Amino acid sequence: MRHFSDGELRPRHRVRHVATALNRPPSCRNTAHWRGGRHTIAPESSGARLGVVEEGKSGEVAMRSESDNGDENVNGLQSVVDYFDVQYKSEMHYWWRQDVRYATDPDSFPFSLLTQMTLRLIAEQRPGRALDLGAGEGADSIRLALLGYSVDSVEISNVGAMKILRFAADAGVTVNVEVADVNDYEPAGQFDLVICNGLLHYIENKAPVIGRIQDATRPGGLNVVSLWSTYTQVPPCHAIVPVFCDPEDGVVMGSYRHWMKKLVYFERDKTESSHSGPSHSHSHIKMIARKPD
Ligand SMILES: C[S@@+](CC[C@H](N)C(=O)[O-])C[C@H]1O[C@@H](n2cnc3c(N)ncnc32)[C@H](O)[C@@H]1O
Repeated sequence: MRHFSDGELRPRHRVRHVATALNRPPSCRNTAHWRGGRHTIAPESSGARLGVVEEGKSGEVAMRSESDNGDENVNGLQSVVDYFDVQYKSEMHYWWRQDVRYATDPDSFPFSLLTQMTLRLIAEQRPGRALDLGAGEGADSIRLALLGYSVDSVEISNVGAMKILRFAADAGVTVNVEVADVNDYEPAGQFDLVICNGLLHYIENKAPVIGRIQDATRPGGLNVVSLWSTYTQVPPCHAIVPVFCDPEDGVVMGSYRHWMKKLVYFERDKTESSHSGPSHSHSHIKMIARKPD
């Protein structure tokens, strides 16, 4: 760590890359180390926006961002990175605000059939490797780490990624966190479980991303998927970033036609309760599927 004249601590190596998700320089990949304390995620250039997160213990985050759109807005819309950076800075826990967020007992999740069923299904197998794509603030990742999984978390928001590190340390577990755009991300090796919770409606070209997820799943492994469907329109409070919902019989369900479905359901026009903001509803595709042996 380096101490700067403004009193902040910043990672020692290639600081400009630490700003990846805030400033998004083209094509970069780096690994930076943090130790406990208050760290500013900031580029060295003046006028940069600062993202400050509190962090409890040491951690490591590998950073990569290759195909996002810089600070320009697309069609007058905010970028997904900017949007989630702001949300994740706004509250300690933007997602999973219940105290049970890291509970490993399925009955702790009467409000989420997907989480409940995931926990019941993985109770039947030994913990192995898990990949959490679009990991947000890391609730799924940390819960799996508590269950003994070796977890790789991928998140495009640098602020979210830092919160995963901090919350994992608070929970006494380690999670490997990478700041990356899943559109470019190549999973390393094979996973027993891949979670893709709330990510795919932010991905326009879903087929190649799903293809890489499926390739990275070991035979017999599980994919857990949740995304917004086109059954209802994206509510105005979310239609401020590019969103690409999928029909209930669209690319996502089609991509899993040869996989064994352990759970599939379509939530339609369900009131959102997992984050704060104006009252609104979403329609979802939710699925747990097992890769054929
Ligand atoms: C709806 S949130 C879900 C967070 C988390 N999975 C959960 O359930 O608590 C979607 C997350 O996907 C991330 N995301 C969106 N597009 C992404 C991309 N192209 N690559 C990686 N992460 C992305 C967002 O930053 C956000 O944290």
